[in-house]
Amino acid sequence: GTGGRLAGKHILVTAGPTHEPIDPVRYIANRSSGKQGYAIAGALAALGARVTLVSGPVALATPPGVSRIDVETAQDMANAVARALPADAAVMVAAVGDWRTDAAGQKIKKEGGAPPSLQLSENPDILAMLAASPRRPALVVGFAAETERVVEHATAKRARKGADWIVANDVSGDVMGGEANAIHLVTADGVEHWERLPKDEVARRLAQRIADAL
Ligand code: C5P
Repeated sequence: GTGGRLAGKHILVTAGPTHEPIDPVRYIANRSSGKQGYAIAGALAALGARVTLVSGPVALATPPGVSRIDVETAQDMANAVARALPADAAVMVAAVGDWRTDAAGQKIKKEGGAPPSLQLSENPDILAMLAASPRRPALVVGFAAETERVVEHATAKRARKGADWIVANDVSGDVMGGEANAIHLVTADGVEHWERLPKDEVARRLAQRIADAL
């Protein structure tokens, strides 16, 4: 953008789910739609930031002014994030799969007798790695989707992952794939409770807060 409160800033955003292959035709995924992350990328670009959006597989249009890198797995996302540095801020909205499995080279056949068991291994925590990295952006923002004790879990997550802010949302209702979000912003100064807002409005307010912080 030209001018704008975030002109000259590079901001990295991750969004969407990851797909972890089981074999050439099957994968492990989650219900993230990418809507909140895409809205945040668009709101940051609207304030003039240069935005790199590292996106898992979603059915969404790239917001105007945003440069998008498509990935599938958590490992791909971690690599794309590392390549996109340096950045002034990072907003990690992606619902990264916690586990992957070693993908079979050929389609696993049902005719083999017993159902296959999947041996899972843990994926890299992209947010925690970025927060601990020597190339850490000045502002690192994480998300926390919780179904209970939302603020308590988010506060613990902020410390554990080394994020500056955690945007916590209660996903016990219809948030995933839905249009609105009631969030709690956990920072070093405490917790702000925001009213239930459309995801676009959550994005605009968060972008303004990021501009204040940078
Ligand atoms: O631990 P949990 O998955 O709830 O943490 C959510 C936050 O951490 C989100 O900001 C998400 O994008 C980030 N995350 C990540 N890499 C992972 C897992 C989560 O960046 N492997």
